Amino acid sequence: MPQDNVFVTRLIPQAGLEKLRGACRLEIWPGALPPAREALLEKVRGIHGILCLLTDRIDRAVMDAAGPQLRAISTYAVGFDNIDVVEATQRGIPVGHTPGVLTEACADLTFALLMAAARRVVEGDRQVRAGLWRTWEPLGWLGADVHEAVLGLVGFGRIGQAVAKRAGGFGMRVLFHDPFYTGYQHEALRAQPVELDMLLAQSDFVSLHAPLTPVTRHLINRESIAKMKVGSILINTARGGLLDQDALVDGLSRRHLAAAALDVTDPEPMPEGHPLLRLDNVIITPHIASASTTARGRMAVLATDNLIAGLQGRRMPHCANPQVYENRR
Ligand code: GLV
Ligand code: GLV
Repeated sequence: MPQDNVFVTRLIPQAGLEKLRGACRLEIWPGALPPAREALLEKVRGIHGILCLLTDRIDRAVMDAAGPQLRAISTYAVGFDNIDVVEATQRGIPVGHTPGVLTEACADLTFALLMAAARRVVEGDRQVRAGLWRTWEPLGWLGADVHEAVLGLVGFGRIGQAVAKRAGGFGMRVLFHDPFYTGYQHEALRAQPVELDMLLAQSDFVSLHAPLTPVTRHLINRESIAKMKVGSILINTARGGLLDQDALVDGLSRRHLAAAALDVTDPEPMPEGHPLLRLDNVIITPHIASASTTARGRMAVLATDNLIAGLQGRRMPHCANPQVYENRR
């Protein structure tokens, strides 16, 4: 096992790296930016396992460049839309990811963005710094109430449910739409399953918590934004690709939407001069939903545990393609 070669595509928290150091020969990409495509293809040559980030596209070409000895892919993220999982499955390679450990951190940030967008926190701060705070204004910086508003969750998995739990404390009415949800957790959370159109029409806040797949790409588009309530607020802490950004620019500029708060964009980072960056009623954070010290530490340990299990031929604690284990039997 210590002979196994592992490439880690960026420096991750030590808690994960320490475990890996004892288990394999490690090469860590030292750059502050992800390895460029050519460097990635070069660095994976001959490796047995890769610990990658959501900024690395892991496709057939990368698996080919690695070679047939590649037997574990582990991503330091819950989402794995950057990995060709179908291709990995065909090759019998398990793909690990990190659900669970970042759920509460992501729900916290979702709520931070929701509240900041509702009450114009970021815009207010910007104006104070620009010297525009001249007096207490009876008609200035008016925003939307969060308490007792209607929150629509598009996606009701772990993170969506954790957001619903927070919304309960604010007396919000929670609607959700999720074609894959089964279970009864929504009853305790007092969340009501509805069709997407109804959710869009009734919600004061719409928050996205679905994975990015070919089916969910641009799930929120011109048509869906037109169905949203006038003056409503859109929050996206899932994946930028869920949202047609041109349609969003339009909806915000016309003030059909009061505001949007995005922790994820398409592409990332936002290109300089993008029209969204010129709108006052948008908050954009640099994909930080899981960025609490604790969550990132736990993600590092889980990503490492997944990788080591994969190298040792054991079942990964959290595998995105568990079919690889069934196929082996
Ligand atoms: C972050 O976006 C993740 O998928 O973990
Ligand atoms: C506001 O600061 C108030 O006292 O109403």
